[in-house]
Amino acid sequence: MPAQPLLTDFPAFAHLQTKAQSLQKGSISALIDDDTQRTLNYVRTAAGLRVDFSKYLLDDATLALLLQLAKQADIQRSIAALFGGDCVNTTENRPALHTLLRADADDGMAEQFTQVSATRASMQTLADTIHHGKHQGFTGKAITDVVNIGIGGSDLGPRLATQALAPYHGSVRCHYVANVDPADISMTLAGLDAQTTLFIICSKSFRTEETLANGLTARQWLLDHGASHGDLQQHFLAVTTNLEAAAEFGIASANCLPMWDWVGGRYSVWSAVGLSTAIAIGWDRFSEFLQGARHMDLHFRTAAHEQNVPLILSLLELWSCNLLGATNHVVLPYDQSLNELPDYLQQLTMESNGKSVNLDGITLPYHTAPVLWGSAGTIGQHSFHQLLHQGTLQCPADFILPLTSHTDNAEQHRRLVANCLAQSRTLMVGRTLEQATATLTARGADMQSAQTLAPHLVMSGNRSNTVVTMEKLTPSTLGALLAMYEHKTYCSAQLWGINPFDQWGVEVGKDIGVAVYARLQGDDESPIDPSTDALIAQWREANR
Ligand code: F6P
Repeated sequence: MPAQPLLTDFPAFAHLQTKAQSLQKGSISALIDDDTQRTLNYVRTAAGLRVDFSKYLLDDATLALLLQLAKQADIQRSIAALFGGDCVNTTENRPALHTLLRADADDGMAEQFTQVSATRASMQTLADTIHHGKHQGFTGKAITDVVNIGIGGSDLGPRLATQALAPYHGSVRCHYVANVDPADISMTLAGLDAQTTLFIICSKSFRTEETLANGLTARQWLLDHGASHGDLQQHFLAVTTNLEAAAEFGIASANCLPMWDWVGGRYSVWSAVGLSTAIAIGWDRFSEFLQGARHMDLHFRTAAHEQNVPLILSLLELWSCNLLGATNHVVLPYDQSLNELPDYLQQLTMESNGKSVNLDGITLPYHTAPVLWGSAGTIGQHSFHQLLHQGTLQCPADFILPLTSHTDNAEQHRRLVANCLAQSRTLMVGRTLEQATATLTARGADMQSAQTLAPHLVMSGNRSNTVVTMEKLTPSTLGALLAMYEHKTYCSAQLWGINPFDQWGVEVGKDIGVAVYARLQGDDESPIDPSTDALIAQWREANR
């Protein structure tokens, strides 16, 4: 097996380093002012999305070099390997077939598709039955509330999709419990009626501590509120690869929907993990969600590199992180219903690409995934945008903007849109010392005072950002948006030479958690380390 090439080995990379030095002396504003075609040439469209990256600090020559880099890295082979079912998850020797979850029958992978198709049929039956109030609890009343118990990929995807698609909800309310902190499930169950509440235990492994603990609490809650053990079957569904463990918990196989090892948790919202979303919005709308993602898949699989939206976004990430020194990536959805999007993308990007060795196990001499964070606009403007405008860190930003609102309050939505476009422009233009001084004198300051204060008002500008727009946030455009980020994540991993589908870094914390829990339980007194031992002693004192 030939050694995995390093990003820095590709010939284009050295040329990009030279370009970075020259471009950093210029400005995005100048690039836009000097090229009347830029706002056309630096926009790409796919699957109902429009991505404007004209406010990125790069020029035609740089974009061409980035595309050369993709070609030198043979990204097309990687794309074919993903859709072809190759073992792209190299350390676990598995394919990654999340695209199959939203595929049509003629999209290939017939054997696995048969399983997907059968599960979709089961999802449709369950979702429609519950969505239309035909699933009854132990007293014969229709289910009114569904509680998804899961964490990570078994929570973030359905939680986001259900919240984002609130305008499409039916009458059944969906809730999400993830944290092992008992306050999470306690707050969720407060006010729910056990007679009409259905739980979905969502866990690929059915071994996740938080999910099992919350599942036991949910079961006890039902028993404490009148259900018999025999009644529990009517109030539990499971989504898992581990049918044995689900049976041990007391969920019959007839109430289990399968997941598969060839779908990673953070790529699984399209599977039965999305059951709660399908219940909330109904199967037809969930199908639109799948189709939107499939539309993006077809684009990703077939578009020429220079038109390929996920690839372009990945190349912009490499340009920002590996050439311009950015270590952050901020996502700013200007739509309150997308408030969970940064949390979802944190797992997708940082659990996928927060890696430091390449496929050969060689420690990398360059950065991989940036820290992704963000929150809905305009909230962030009154929280962290100060850092985005005047901080010392480069934080390339993705603005996500549905152009029309689901509400009838056009006046306020216009304000939202104005703020989004203004923030994108402000990151580009900033404020010069001269402008700052003029602002202060215009406010009545004398020249000396103005010149003293002006440096504090200067904003460098030149802060790269994209604006991703869609006509409306619908199941289809949401599906396309999430698939776009999945494929961007995959492309970045291929260019960095890392495996985006494993997560070996989460095991040690879990193992040490078991040891600390044993100490807290009093089952084991063996010392761990002076700090942890002192903290355990402090906990014991507080809980005497
Ligand atoms: O964070 C580790 C992880 O394995 C994630 O990859 C996964 O989405 C989450 O825990 C939950 O795992 P499970 O679905 O097996 O409960």
